[in-house]
Amino acid sequence: MRIAHISDLHFNTKFKSGNILKAKRLIKHALNSGAEHLVISGDISDNSDEKDFIILKEILKRFDLLRSDKTSIVIGNHDIFGGPQTAQDVLNFPSKCMNTNYHQKVAKFIDHFKELFENTIRPHDELFFPFAKEFKDVLLVGLNSNAEYSRLKNPFASNGHVSKIQRQFLKVILTKNEFKEKVKIILTHHHFYPKNVTSHSSESTMWNRIENYTMKLRGKKKLLKLFLESNVKLVLHGHSHEMKEYFREGIRFVNSGGSVDNNLKDEASLFLIDAFPFEITAEISTPTLESKNIATQEKLIVSLAS
Ligand SMILES: [Fe+2]
Repeated sequence: MRIAHISDLHFNTKFKSGNILKAKRLIKHALNSGAEHLVISGDISDNSDEKDFIILKEILKRFDLLRSDKTSIVIGNHDIFGGPQTAQDVLNFPSKCMNTNYHQKVAKFIDHFKELFENTIRPHDELFFPFAKEFKDVLLVGLNSNAEYSRLKNPFASNGHVSKIQRQFLKVILTKNEFKEKVKIILTHHHFYPKNVTSHSSESTMWNRIENYTMKLRGKKKLLKLFLESNVKLVLHGHSHEMKEYFREGIRFVNSGGSVDNNLKDEASLFLIDAFPFEITAEISTPTLESKNIATQEKLIVSLAS
């Protein structure tokens, strides 16, 4: 199964209009590259603005991708809390987060993208995360990795946490006998970087400390243990704006956080994943500006014996 993975679209018609064009180009490129399924791992909107969700829906509809069997989506912190847009917003941001109704925002997100949650396997009817989708060789499992706001533990509303109830339901899904032979792929917004390894590791340690405190996924160890026990092969995520592949405990992690919102004018890329029972490959693929149909492909790591 060929999967195209993009993330962190950060649609914002006022401040980041270029991101919409880049995302359209990437989605077209995904289809031209033979992708059978599109994964978008959160932060669709830069400022939790519902009109950004509608823009993405319209794009997906145009490409006949607003269908559960064609596209999977998970929610990012910006889809719930937004982000500061101006210098003035930075000061007001904590109180904005404090007054955000987390559960209402998650419900709104689900409602906007309800077509993508149709026919999903969910241990609890009323909870949309975790959800699973079964394909011939592959099982996709989506999580809500966003922590609720906390003045001390989540002061910028950008840290992650997967609730105990989600972990319990995740275990139910991952340990089902009927999914034993499937290639299990987790979709989440937050990254699993080891402590002190961040996207800016070569820059100031002060920045590392800030990023470690404001971008981390709490409870990673428990999740990693569960992934290992249930033979998860691959985790697709975003959050940190870079294109990166790494391994933890033998599990492959792919970050497409830099696919669109990357400070590079007109440059966009996606990860193309080929997932089969005995082999997974992941490579970065970039549509050229001149010919949108021709891919410039940079091979990273090929082949992983399961
Ligand atoms: Fe994020």
